[in-house]
Amino acid sequence: MTEETSLFGLKGKKALIIGGGQGMGEASARFLASAGCDVALVDLEQERADRVAGIAAGFGVKAATIVGNVLDDAQIPRIVAEAEEKLGGIDRMVSIVGAATWGSLLETTGEIWDQQMALNLRYFFLIAKATAETMIRRGTGGRIVGIASVDGQRASPMRGAYGAAKAGLISVVQTMAVEWAPHDISVNAIAPGHIVTPRLFDTPRRVEGYSKSLIPMRRRGTTDDIGKAALFLLSDLAAYVNGTTLDVDGGLLSANLFPQGLPASNG
Ligand SMILES: NC(=O)c1ccc[n+]([C@@H]2O[C@H](COP(=O)([O-])OP(=O)(O)OC[C@H]3O[C@@H](n4cnc5c(N)ncnc54)[C@H](O)[C@@H]3O)[C@@H](O)[C@H]2O)c1
Repeated sequence: MTEETSLFGLKGKKALIIGGGQGMGEASARFLASAGCDVALVDLEQERADRVAGIAAGFGVKAATIVGNVLDDAQIPRIVAEAEEKLGGIDRMVSIVGAATWGSLLETTGEIWDQQMALNLRYFFLIAKATAETMIRRGTGGRIVGIASVDGQRASPMRGAYGAAKAGLISVVQTMAVEWAPHDISVNAIAPGHIVTPRLFDTPRRVEGYSKSLIPMRRRGTTDDIGKAALFLLSDLAAYVNGTTLDVDGGLLSANLFPQGLPASNG
């Protein structure tokens, strides 16, 4: 074990990664595996999970795959049980699944609202609860991370239902952190800013153009930026971090405080 991996304290730990087949889930799996953590990758598509499992296994850890749909309540107990069986328990969990739909509040129907809550909030509550129950039953404690968004912390024009769902995720993460701390389970969220992912949102391309001009670090984030944050929050480095939301946004939220815009590059 290198000094670096022992600092993370993840050697031999067992992580469930929901949406592990690409993007931020893939990056999280890669960084966790590189720190010696076994991983179980849950995805809708076997091929995607297999590919990432191959990458993770290259670090010498156990890498299991589980095909499942976390939006189907009935599958959640089966997914968690399968992960427990394949890894011999679960003491880390990061859940990536989520997406925004594009449209003003006036265009948002009740159906779209419910769909956004299901995709970004409801399933997270259920999978985190099922994972925590396992950790409590086995007495292992553990660490859980949900993916929120900067949209959950400010107004999110043209994706208001999404923003409300992510704000809900931030809130329920805080409550989980408080209620589950006596079981040695910590729960935190990551709030990505503008991140380049394999599957771009259903967002007009013009947004991609100006997003860079809003970001103080002058670049959009990468899935690795999010994977590194997940590694941190799931590791011993974050041993006393609980109930927080870590913005990984290149300074975007801070810049929003200055409506006149960013200073010139070297200003
Ligand atoms: N890209 C951004 O700028 C940005 C900004 C803020 C927040 N986010 C958040 O990041 C997350 C998306 O990350 P990404 O684009 O890397 O992931 P993604 O959408 O590419 O999904 C990752 C994997 O999850 C799988 N998946 C999708 N639905 C599933 C389901 N119901 N059950 C099981 N597996 C499922 C997919 O097959 C895919 O392989 C979302 O929560 C999103 O709200 C993204």
